[in-house]
Amino acid sequence: MKDFRGSGEKDLLATELGMNEGGWYSTTHLTMKVYINGEYFDKENAKISVFDHGLLYGDGVFEGIRLYSGCVFKLDEHLDRLEKSAKAILLSLPWTRAELSEAVCATCRANNLRDGYIRLVVTRGVGSLGLSHKTCSNPQLIIIADKISLYPQEYYTQGLKIVTSPTRRVNPAAFPPMVKSLNYLNNIMAKADANMSGCLEALMLNDQGYIAECTGDNVFIRHGDVWLTPAYHAGALKGITRGVAIECIHELGLKLVETNITRYEAWTADEMFLTGTAAEIIPVVEVDTRVIGDGTPGSQTAKLLEIFQRKVKVEGTMIE
Ligand SMILES: Cc1ncc(COP(=O)(O)O)c(C=O)c1O
Repeated sequence: MKDFRGSGEKDLLATELGMNEGGWYSTTHLTMKVYINGEYFDKENAKISVFDHGLLYGDGVFEGIRLYSGCVFKLDEHLDRLEKSAKAILLSLPWTRAELSEAVCATCRANNLRDGYIRLVVTRGVGSLGLSHKTCSNPQLIIIADKISLYPQEYYTQGLKIVTSPTRRVNPAAFPPMVKSLNYLNNIMAKADANMSGCLEALMLNDQGYIAECTGDNVFIRHGDVWLTPAYHAGALKGITRGVAIECIHELGLKLVETNITRYEAWTADEMFLTGTAAEIIPVVEVDTRVIGDGTPGSQTAKLLEIFQRKVKVEGTMIE
């Protein structure tokens, strides 16, 4: 894998650009071309209307996708989730799956990227100042392709320390957390809770007190021979990387159960890791000051990460 996380390039980027509080850094390459509705714009000219409901209300959906060695990983799965998110919020997409797929690949080509992170955004489009989605008839498609990585390499070798956020994951009866919508304030507030505790990630509980997920990642814990992850009905995004991690667990011949998980079960776990498109598979070594296992990344997590990294090298949609 052309994994710039582990290379000198990452260190250069981290030094030159500075890590922000959340851990993200980006090359924001100067020649970046941003795709908006079939046209490419320089970064500084990539703009949409201030009357777009994506801006006014967070009304829209998005995907975060990875490009590895010139292949878009799990592109179909991401587009499927995008279409389902759009359907759930009554946003009718005027693009076919094939058109969306080609737009993603073309944007990577236009930016000469072989490895990177793709942000695909669909806004409801321009409307009145009222809430009604019916005043918006022209959804906007924005694709940004950039080099980006979530956490510095040391977190993969030493593991993350996380805390439980007092901010509960949004109740599915209020709004389905399975929708990857442009309104991320629930997660942003929980991330702020994590940052204020000196951590990069936080566990988010659902309204019943079970673990739903982290602010931008899904959660896995191991007790003995069994890996556990919250069912997405517990209030989690149905993560694409979560699905790949489940495949990896099965490929290792290990057992996986989707179930309700309490904080007690996380505190007393033998191993723990988080999954996400940007973070991939990242070990957790401490939750709410309780040390997980022996306080170092678990051996099964390392094996799962290895399988994951093999998969991203050989699977995906070629951009050429
Ligand atoms: C709230 C939330 N949970 C989980 C994930 C992980 O999902 P995926 O593996 O599809 O990136 C994300 C990713 O953005 C997220 O925002």
